[in-house]
Amino acid sequence: MKILVTGSNGLVGSRLARVLVAQGHEVLGASRGTKTAAGAYAYVGLELSDAMAVDRAVDAFAPEVIINPASMTEVDACEKDPERAYRANVTAVANLAIAARRVGAHLLQVSTDYVFDGDHGPYGEDDVPNPRGVYAITKHMGEEAVRALAKPGAWTIARTAVVYGWPAAARPNFGAWLVNALCAKQTVKLFVDQIVTPSLADNVAEMLAELGTRRLAGIFHVCGATAVDRYTFGQKLCGVFGFDRSLLVPSKLADLKLASPRPLHSALRTEKIREALKVQPLSLDEQLRRFHSAWCEGRGSAAA
Ligand SMILES: NC(=O)c1ccc[n+]([C@@H]2O[C@H](COP(=O)([O-])OP(=O)(O)OC[C@H]3O[C@@H](n4cnc5c(N)ncnc54)[C@H](OP(=O)(O)O)[C@@H]3O)[C@@H](O)[C@H]2O)c1
Repeated sequence: MKILVTGSNGLVGSRLARVLVAQGHEVLGASRGTKTAAGAYAYVGLELSDAMAVDRAVDAFAPEVIINPASMTEVDACEKDPERAYRANVTAVANLAIAARRVGAHLLQVSTDYVFDGDHGPYGEDDVPNPRGVYAITKHMGEEAVRALAKPGAWTIARTAVVYGWPAAARPNFGAWLVNALCAKQTVKLFVDQIVTPSLADNVAEMLAELGTRRLAGIFHVCGATAVDRYTFGQKLCGVFGFDRSLLVPSKLADLKLASPRPLHSALRTEKIREALKVQPLSLDEQLRRFHSAWCEGRGSAAA
């Protein structure tokens, strides 16, 4: 199958492209600038908010499936620069949806738990979004662009949450940031009052690959199987990695003066994805075991 993977230099996109190549698919990776992620697939430098550039790339490759993890993901940066967030999270998605429809490709859009306000989690796929803050609002607008512009029945929205993995891609992720800080014996403040469903990037990539290649239409929550607050996540991580738990400082979301609001309880329900897919969302314990193995392997190869 011919599959266009955007954001292929990013955390999810880089892993997704490699999973699909390993499954024998013909992958075209797309990100801005040059290819920085490992993997044997073709690559195009592409600014997704440029409609003509998107059209050219899509027409030339003629994908059967387009998977779009590309996004402006820094929540506070989106709050400070809403126009850039709009271009990356809405205009880019609209461009892809229009191009997908024209060439008859299925579009799988990657979205976020932040489309929910966090007042009444955990959330199922049928719950009504109420995004707060620029990142959340633009991601929700991206979902709406898919629903309006992609061919009916030929789109999927996959919402994920707190994605982490080792090695990190271009930007640090929650898990890698935590490991680096604890390894350096720095104290870290972690929220006791924000409940999320942490998701190992490799597991997310495998679930997205199955959703995309089977072209399962509709909305799916594609995340880890365990809802947990960030402080408890840190404690469990310390247990698996052998880090000092006293470095973790419990804090509350309201204590930090963050530019953008965050949902308090945005955990996602996973019944639908468990029912639909062969690849299953991993428990937090299993995620942390795999995260630790990847970290040990990375340290081994860095030392070699
Ligand atoms: N990471 C999380 O905790 C998390 C949680 C919930 C949902 N999600 C969703 O999961 C998806 C993947 O996230 P991720 O962690 O893999 O993000 P990431 O590591 O930040 O990667 C995003 C990629 O998108 C590219 N990109 C951004 N704007 C672009 C544009 N205008 N044109 C072309 N490429 C552009 C970035 O390129 P540059 O490097 O050039 O900027 C980067 O390669 C996103 O849709 C995000 O909203 C992530």
